[in-house]
Amino acid sequence: MDFLQWNEKYALGIQEIDSQHQSLFLLINRLYRQMIRVSDPIEDNEILDELIKYTKVHFSFEENFFDKISFAESDKKLHKMEHLNFCAKIEEFQEKMLSGEEGLTTSMMIFLKDWLKNHILKTDMTYKIELDKISAPE
Ligand SMILES: [Fe+2]
Ligand SMILES: [Fe+2]
Repeated sequence: MDFLQWNEKYALGIQEIDSQHQSLFLLINRLYRQMIRVSDPIEDNEILDELIKYTKVHFSFEENFFDKISFAESDKKLHKMEHLNFCAKIEEFQEKMLSGEEGLTTSMMIFLKDWLKNHILKTDMTYKIELDKISAPE
């Protein structure tokens, strides 16, 4: 069984965003598999780096997307703040890895997993709800 299992409850019903979220699940699972086998710091960083880059691609896609819909400015701001904080956190992991201070750890994997699950279910879902309101018939 995968470390992070995709399931329908994570689906926003917006195809491009759902498939980006699935790619993030895959990358976290790859990083987890990397952690449990004999780790190689260069390979560890390659996967982490891929995750960081793809996360940023996804975040900007999402921010562009919800900037276009009528969605409270304060919600957009909070949402972007969550994205920024997450990026800062994973970049901090990477710095620690590159300096040799820390390798891939279970607590880091659990952080990634919990953050992504909660963010999709609580924060990303809010713009899906706004979109549903717009497209719902009167
Ligand atoms: Fe988001
Ligand atoms: Fe997202």
